[in-house]
Amino acid sequence: MCLTGYLILMETLKKTVAAASLTYLKQQEKMWSDPVLWNNHEELWSSAFAKDTQDLWDSVIHPRIKDFLKGDVLELAPGRGRVTDFLAKHLNVLDSLELVDQSEYCIEHCRKRFGNNLKYHVNDGMSLDMIEKNSKDFVFSWDSFVHIDKEVINLYLGGFSDILKKGGHGFIHHSYFFGNENPKKNKAGRSNMTFKLFAELLVKNNLKPVKQEMFKLNVKSSYDITLNDGFTTFVKV
Ligand SMILES: C[S@@+](CC[C@H](N)C(=O)[O-])C[C@H]1O[C@@H](n2cnc3c(N)ncnc32)[C@H](O)[C@@H]1O
Repeated sequence: MCLTGYLILMETLKKTVAAASLTYLKQQEKMWSDPVLWNNHEELWSSAFAKDTQDLWDSVIHPRIKDFLKGDVLELAPGRGRVTDFLAKHLNVLDSLELVDQSEYCIEHCRKRFGNNLKYHVNDGMSLDMIEKNSKDFVFSWDSFVHIDKEVINLYLGGFSDILKKGGHGFIHHSYFFGNENPKKNKAGRSNMTFKLFAELLVKNNLKPVKQEMFKLNVKSSYDITLNDGFTTFVKV
């Protein structure tokens, strides 16, 4: 095989995931595209972390990302824009915010909500090929990687490595859970993940972990369960 053929094959293999992951992705896409799931629920999800979404932003998210939230920003899996609204309000006019979600329903909802000020993409649930390489100062995702399996997380970390500028940072809210390999069978749909594994996947994708933090969810009232999630901050060196 010639070198070009070999490189194309390696690139294809890098982006191929097991059939189980593909099935799960399709189920997720269907689930998050159902308006009934969303109606009146977003505030409830915030209550797992704080009093409401304003409090979630003020007390949990903003203090952890304020040093990185500038320039050209990508939010992965924004849903209907619960946190996007706060990200957008904290950026300057010359900054940019691009959104990628695998649900067309969610992206169209965001497009109606935020208009032409932002850029929007529907993806296949694993690839960031539509984003310019070395173009982002900050990548962010909230309450979505908690449900994404490690195979797909690995692909997204590769995508972040491609699209971040040198010195660009990322902040990902992910799960910290040991359970079934199928997240649907775990409490609150949490996927299996540890800090050690997340850090190893970052390093494998040429990214450097900066900080990892355990966060205790306050979900007893709404879901009658207790969970610890993880926050990982990283940089492209
Ligand atoms: C729980 S919602 C969270 C939305 C938003 N971040 C928030 O906090 O309100 C999960 C979102 O992740 C998206 N999503 C799930 N798996 C994804 C994947 N593999 N790639 C891209 N988006 C995904 C869903 O379409 C949905 O919009």
